[in-house]
Amino acid sequence: MATVTSGSPPSSAPAWAALADIAARVADVSLRDRFALDPSRSERFAGAVGDLWVDWSRHPIDDEALGLLVDLADQRDVPGFCSRMLAGDMVNATEGRPAGHTALRAPDADDGVTGTLGRMADLADRIRGGSFTGATGEPVRAVVSLGIGGSHLGPAMAHEALTHLAHPDVTVRFSSSLDAADLTAALAGLEPATTLVVVCSKSFTTTETMVAADTATAWLSEGVGDDVSRHLAAATAAPQRASARGIDPDLVFAIPESVGGRFSLSSAMGLALMVAIGPEAFHELLAGMHAVDRHLGEEPVDGNVPMLLGLIDVWQRSFLGATSLAVVPYSHALRRLPDHLQQLMMESLGKRVTADGSPTAGPTGPVVFGAGGTDSQHAFFQLLHQGTDVVPVDLIGVARPVTDPRGAHHDGLMANLLAQAESLAFGRTDTEAAALGVAPDLVAHQEFPGNRPSTVVLLPELSPSTLGQLVALYEHRTVVQAAVWGINPFDQWGVELGKQLTTRFHDRLTGGADTGREEPSSGLIRRYRGLRGRD
Ligand code: F6P
Repeated sequence: MATVTSGSPPSSAPAWAALADIAARVADVSLRDRFALDPSRSERFAGAVGDLWVDWSRHPIDDEALGLLVDLADQRDVPGFCSRMLAGDMVNATEGRPAGHTALRAPDADDGVTGTLGRMADLADRIRGGSFTGATGEPVRAVVSLGIGGSHLGPAMAHEALTHLAHPDVTVRFSSSLDAADLTAALAGLEPATTLVVVCSKSFTTTETMVAADTATAWLSEGVGDDVSRHLAAATAAPQRASARGIDPDLVFAIPESVGGRFSLSSAMGLALMVAIGPEAFHELLAGMHAVDRHLGEEPVDGNVPMLLGLIDVWQRSFLGATSLAVVPYSHALRRLPDHLQQLMMESLGKRVTADGSPTAGPTGPVVFGAGGTDSQHAFFQLLHQGTDVVPVDLIGVARPVTDPRGAHHDGLMANLLAQAESLAFGRTDTEAAALGVAPDLVAHQEFPGNRPSTVVLLPELSPSTLGQLVALYEHRTVVQAAVWGINPFDQWGVELGKQLTTRFHDRLTGGADTGREEPSSGLIRRYRGLRGRD
């Protein structure tokens, strides 16, 4: 059975020791000196994947280090692992299944996948065309997608990113939080008679989503009566659970068990997105993802952009000690991308044991955070420029804007992106600050250390295809890191304990009387129950 590289730790690979030997020396050469010595650096340490241009020249890296990282990938069988993933082998060892997300967007997808996509397209077309009617015979004009984590973040992000393509007469909204305020806002102004609620849950057991589904069902019943079957759909890997909750099998759309939540954008989890942008655009998104899947499977490591980015992530984390990664899209439409990537990368790489259960030899996934540029420049960039930690940053730009009526905004966005990349990399010395007239006692405050790494990703435009390429690029970059470290990027056992304890605490918070048993949370439980008028 093929698994994530397991057994030997990554540090046993010959290239690992060589990288450890040169790390301090390579990091010691400033980015100023690197660019001064090699003006072609921004062309040489960069490459295309599909329509995207990716520039990793502002990392402390040279040909020797990059060559060793490529060797490391080979010694850790990263290409083999990626090929096995793409071939549908059992790469998710701890859950005993393949990782089927790339099969969802392959042109030769199996009948089950194409059948589901066809049924989704049929429903989407009928809603968009006004021929899908609800219980009262009125056409459905709104779709509300309920789901959380991977059953929410990707589709909600993509809907926001492609909102310029959304059908003008069909409202599409998303709700994820257990806080009723979220669902209340999502349903506000909608009519049950013209609304379809899509319950998105792979397991169909997730409390947040099931509670929201019950509340939404009650809201629908109040509007159209007990038979809400025309108003409830499901995207799930557990169709029998959806049916048990009274959802019409004709409106249940299957997700293969092998597709992990955070990798499920190209699955039926995207039903509401497909309604918004239309089946054709949804297929363009899938085609964009597939283009990057092919790149991953076909390009040699030294020309394979997702592999190189994953290897540079390993270089930053394992050899240079970076503990975080900031993702900053200079595109308002992409402002939810950091949320999606946070789940993708932190659920996949937040592991402390390898695929075979032994402790990892060193650190694994970094903390991932981010927000839209330029807002984030006025929020957390101070720390990136002058803080005591070095935080690698991904700066994502789009060349052609969706909208810029006066032509006054968009070039400014890209100028900001470049200015941040430049100032992070090259900083400002004390001499330069003094030469600018900075008062001597303020020079230390106005000096910028530089050597703060960034990766620039440039999209020609924001389209379904380029968005699909961007998402697939990050998916594969994540898997590559996992393959080097020997961890399983496809499981997420770490979220389970909190779920189990929630059930126990829910009973304590809502039960007839507090048990009186002392435990660490007793003080908070008593106070909460008091505030809720329960004791
Ligand atoms: O956050 C934990 C998690 O298990 C994610 O991996 C998943 O995307 C999310 O919960 C939702 O799960 P489900 O789709 O089964 O409701």
